[in-house]
Order: sequence, then structure tokens, then C-alpha cells
Amino acid sequence: MSRLPLPALLLSGYLNSPPRIPLLGIVKSANHAYGAALAGHSTGTDGGCRGGEESIAVFVRGTSGIGRSIAESFARHANGRGRVLLVEQNEHAAHAILSSTPSSSNTKSQFIPCDLANSTSLSLCIDALSTLPKINCLILTPGCFSLYPHSDANPSSKDRQVDSKLMVHYYARWKLIHDLASLLEGATALGEDGKVLTVSRPGWGGRANLYDLGLNRTYGAIAASLQMPTYNDFMIESFALLHPSLTFINAYPGFVRTPLLSSSPTLRELSSYPFPVPALAASLVALAEVMTYPLSRSAEECAEWMWRGVWSSSRASNGKYGENVKGYFPSYMAEKIVDVSGKVKEKHGAFRLGAYGEDLGAQRSFGTEDARRMVWEHTGRIMGA
Ligand SMILES: NC(=O)c1ccc[n+]([C@@H]2O[C@H](COP(=O)([O-])OP(=O)(O)OC[C@H]3O[C@@H](n4cnc5c(N)ncnc54)[C@H](OP(=O)(O)O)[C@@H]3O)[C@@H](O)[C@H]2O)c1
Repeated sequence: MSRLPLPALLLSGYLNSPPRIPLLGIVKSANHAYGAALAGHSTGTDGGCRGGEESIAVFVRGTSGIGRSIAESFARHANGRGRVLLVEQNEHAAHAILSSTPSSSNTKSQFIPCDLANSTSLSLCIDALSTLPKINCLILTPGCFSLYPHSDANPSSKDRQVDSKLMVHYYARWKLIHDLASLLEGATALGEDGKVLTVSRPGWGGRANLYDLGLNRTYGAIAASLQMPTYNDFMIESFALLHPSLTFINAYPGFVRTPLLSSSPTLRELSSYPFPVPALAASLVALAEVMTYPLSRSAEECAEWMWRGVWSSSRASNGKYGENVKGYFPSYMAEKIVDVSGKVKEKHGAFRLGAYGEDLGAQRSFGTEDARRMVWEHTGRIMGA
């Protein structure tokens, strides 16, 4: 077991007991072995084929930051045999990534345009994805940092009701899972993996404000950043109850060096202010990035920990990931599930994971069964489901 670096110690202090983590190099080996099995290579750890003939992974926002690294890592581990679908706003970036990874040998890998904050665009994207024969992995990593509410919501549609940041961090994710669950079940019906990863900040949220679901009256950057992780917790719990053959994971990626802050809508808005506001804002962001560098990790490292979490979390068939990889010790299994209110329930497939892909159980989870149900019903109304 590795000694924990300083950021891990700080994080684990916040999240109670320190996680027991293997070395990153060992995790990479375990990921590579499992990726090979996923892609149907006979050398896979379980000799099986968790992704069937062709593992299909959908990355919702995979051309930047964490999403990009997770997509590239998947393409590498599956060694070109995985089929990668990038749901993006930026076609140029998507094609650049598809042609630079081993997935380029899979000619069915493709780009699907989507602005997640726009419900029409989201529906078109879901229509396009619905033509897939199955989905093995749905990876949800979109995000934006914005200090202001409704900063770039589309005012000409029903999106007016939902702030674009909340759309990207929760509502659009919910809709994608809701409408694509049958394709994930298509994979599990074949005995393959059917998993959803939503990247937010489990363990860093707050109690759901049941008096203002959707934050129409109380929106603020802090309120949003406390509510979204809890909504994501509720989301995976609810979908896991509805779709017992699937695995749903809400993971905290750690503090990762990405363009999240430097490309934020708030910073873009500030760039239209007179001198010296834009220069000052950009300098402050650059300074913050330099000062926090020692506490942060690269997106590439983060991707390996996230795959560890995804591939070792499973309701039905855990115990294969990491097997036969020298130095890897078995990770947790879904023996029991702790629900949002801290009660131990029957086994189902909802996992909250920390920055090393470790199981957080119910640590710093907020809410009750009633709150989970209310958020579910509210979301269904908003998303017209
Ligand atoms: N970085 C961290 O330390 C950290 C920590 C905890 C949680 N997270 C979460 O992890 C997720 C990924 O963040 P990241 O750090 O990888 O940031 P990132 O590199 O900025 O990636 C987020 C991507 O989401 C895209 N996006 C924003 N609005 C969109 C929309 N309306 N439609 C489609 N795509 C949209 C952005 O696209 P454009 O570039 O085109 O705007 C951006 O590329 C976020 O949810 C973030 O909150 C990050």
C-alpha cells in the first residue's frame, strides 16, 4: 500500500478514515488487464468478455479535462477494440481526439453534437444515441463554473426554467440516463457490463433544499455547488432501484488540473469588461492554479483512479478486476448498500466513490428517502419524463 500524499491526507481527514489505496502503477496494470477483457481479448484478467465483441462507451463531454482523459484511457486500455462515442459541442476537438487515440482503428467511433443546456439539442443527441445496439458504459463529466444564475440558458425555450449550470451538472445527466437505460440493460442482458459514471462531488454536498427544488429562488454559486452532488447521489440511488441489473456510480475526481476555471462562462463574461478587469481576473486564475498545483493531480492520473472505481464497482460480478495483477489487493464489493439516509439496504447497484475510486458508503451523504423521492418527481416534471 502506498503512503498517502498530502492532498489525500487532507481529503481523507475530511471524509473520515483514510482510504486504503494501491499504487498508481498497479492500478494502471489492473485497468489495462480489465480493459483487455472488456475488449474481448483472451488475455483479460477474467478471460471473459465483459464488453462482448465490442465494448461501447459513451462519453458525455470527452474533449476536455477529466472527460477527455477518461475517454483516452478507455481507448488505450481497450487497445482500439472499444467503440468510443463523444458527445460534444466542439466537433473539431472531438475529431482530433478520435483520430489520435487507438480507437481510431474502430471505424464506428463517432462524434455526436450536443449542447446539454439546450433541451432540443439534448433530445436530438438522445435520438442519435438510441440507434446504438447497446451501451456498456455511459460516462457523464460535463461541467461549468459560473458565479451567476442562468448565465447562458437559452431564453427562447422551456430551458428558461433551468439554469444552464444545473442542466449540465444534473438535469441533462438525469435525462440521458433515463432515456438510455434500456440500452445499458441491453448490455447486461448479454452478460456484459452496463455502468453509468457521473462525476460530481459526493461527500462535498449539502442537504437538499426541499422548499426550492431547482433553486429558482435561491440560486447562487455556493448553493448550486452544495445541491448538485446531493442531487447526483439521489439520482444514482433512484435509477439503481429502477434498474437493478445496472451499476450507477457517483464519483469525486479529486482536485484535478483542468480548464474548468479558466474556461468558465464567468471568466468569459469578465473578458468584455474594460481594462484592467479581464487581465486581473485571468491573472488571479493563473495565480490560483500555480498556488494549488501541489495539491492537485493531472487529469490522466484522475482517469486511472476513476476507471479503477468503475471497473471494481459492480452489483453482480465483482472480484475479477485486479485479480492476477501483482501487488493489487481486492477492492470492495457491493455486499451491502447504504442509502442516502445512512440505512443499510438490500444490495443494489448505487456506489459513491472517492478520489481513489474507493467506496465512500454513506460518508457525508445528505437526505432522506422522502427527499430522494421529491427530487425524483421534481426532475421528472422538469425534464418532461
Ligand atoms: N477539476 C476538478 O478539480 C473537479 C473537482 C470536482 C468535480 N469536478 C467535476 O468534474 C466534471 C468535469 O470537470 P473538468 O474539470 O474536467 O472541467 P472541463 O475540462 O471544463 O470539462 C467540462 C466540460 O463540460 C463542457 N460543457 C459545459 N457546458 C456544456 C454544455 N452546455 N453542453 C456540453 N458540454 C458542456 C465544457 O465544454 P466547453 O469547453 O465547450 O465549454 C467543458 O469542456 C465537472 O462536472 C466538474 O464540476 C471537477
